[in-house]
Amino acid sequence: MFKQFSKRDAVPQTNVVDLKTAEAPVLKPIEPSEEDKELIAFLELKSRLHEALLDRLNFSVIDKIVPEELRREVAALVTEVLSRDNTPLRSSEFQRLVNELMDEVLGLGPLEPLLADPSINDILVNGHKTVFIERSGVLERTNTRFRDEKHLLRIIDKIVTRIGRRVDESVPWVDARLEDGSRVNAIIRPCAIDGPSISIRKFAKMPLTMDRLVSAGALSDQAAALLQGLVKARLNVLISGGTGSGKTTMLNAMSASISERERIVTIEDAAELQLQQEHVVRLETRPPNPSGGGSVNQRDLVRNALRMRPDRIIVGEVRGAETFDMLQAMNTGHDGSMTTVHANSARDALGRIEQMVTMMGIDLPMSAVRAQIASGLHFVVQLSRLADGKRRVISVSEITGIEGDVITMQDIFIYRKIGVTEDGEVQGEFIPTGIRPRCWDVLKTAGVDLGQTDLSGRTH
Ligand SMILES: Nc1ncnc2c1ncn2[C@@H]1O[C@H](COP(=O)(O)OP(=O)(O)OP(=O)(O)O)[C@@H](O)[C@H]1O
Ligand SMILES: [Mg+2]
Repeated sequence: MFKQFSKRDAVPQTNVVDLKTAEAPVLKPIEPSEEDKELIAFLELKSRLHEALLDRLNFSVIDKIVPEELRREVAALVTEVLSRDNTPLRSSEFQRLVNELMDEVLGLGPLEPLLADPSINDILVNGHKTVFIERSGVLERTNTRFRDEKHLLRIIDKIVTRIGRRVDESVPWVDARLEDGSRVNAIIRPCAIDGPSISIRKFAKMPLTMDRLVSAGALSDQAAALLQGLVKARLNVLISGGTGSGKTTMLNAMSASISERERIVTIEDAAELQLQQEHVVRLETRPPNPSGGGSVNQRDLVRNALRMRPDRIIVGEVRGAETFDMLQAMNTGHDGSMTTVHANSARDALGRIEQMVTMMGIDLPMSAVRAQIASGLHFVVQLSRLADGKRRVISVSEITGIEGDVITMQDIFIYRKIGVTEDGEVQGEFIPTGIRPRCWDVLKTAGVDLGQTDLSGRTH
């Protein structure tokens, strides 16, 4: 239905144009800036050269060509085309053109410089003209762009075919991994309405260790010592946080405290964890094949992992039915398990776990589910990306039991926000709440030495 045109919507009289006498309004095109013009000319030139290159190169042998040889070929072609067109270029532009053409042929085109920049965490492509990056927790728009939608689709295709997957109108999204381990999600039309979108979480070449997390201000060294102690004492830990809050990073950092003598099985949707130990079996889920069959989900893998004589099971992130099996495992002697969950507070994290278990459709009374959570899980580590982009541990809470039908928890550490500086930096402090964890003796028995204090400030 069209909206009724009411009097209030009427155009004010002063703006009414008499169509018989008025001249056609001249619509002024938006003039591109000098910078835009230069960029467009550069992209056009590159596109022409790219096509000429595609004609000339024999792609069946491209993997065998030494990059230096290819570079010489590309440079020769650029020189030839430029002199034919009489388009002089500055030497820096010439080099840039050659580099970008090399990236097109060997890599992921315009994404290559962003992939090579170690200060970038995430690369987010929203259609062919818009690319954002995340650095130190803050999003920035870049001037990277693709020639057109076809160019972007070609890059997506390159990413997914390499790992034997595909993306098309029937299943327009795909999870993939780049050769260097970076995690990728791509989604195309018709679901991505404004054009193909890619989200890349770059693989950390130097994963953040617990020490580095402490020096980056993500937590206090006292809290770090407690977290390391929990792992050594084989307590079951749930790491919780919002999107990109640092859950996987924390799981990785905590896993470094697992003894070399243990057999670890990891389960992930897209393998990201970088465990340093030698004895690790990595399992990854598999999406359905084009005819819809053959998928392997996290639940299948958890069940299989239990038959693999694991000392520890680590699930990258619980999302569904596998939560039930993890809880069962935690309650039947598989100690030292760790996983992450997407939730905004420690209390919400327990709610999410409960929800995922009940979603299974198993006829278990809620009180039984809660009792399993309360006895299976020992600690919840809550992470958050604060307003200034910094990722911090905002609470470390111990699960103490169940009262009535409420799971009881006590905070051992919290981050207290004090204020915000003029340039937007969040100021705060990590404080031990003064509560002595119930697991204190367990930690001691496991040989964990938390120094002279028991986190309550009392010395022994
Ligand atoms: N304390 C930190 N300081 C600086 N950078 C961090 C910190 N923790 C994590 N990062 C970086 O932030 C990015 C997101 O971290 P991570 O992948 O661990 O988050 P996540 O919560 O697992 O995200 P997702 O919800 O997408 O799975 C990564 O690039 C990581 O290197
Ligand atoms: Mg993660």
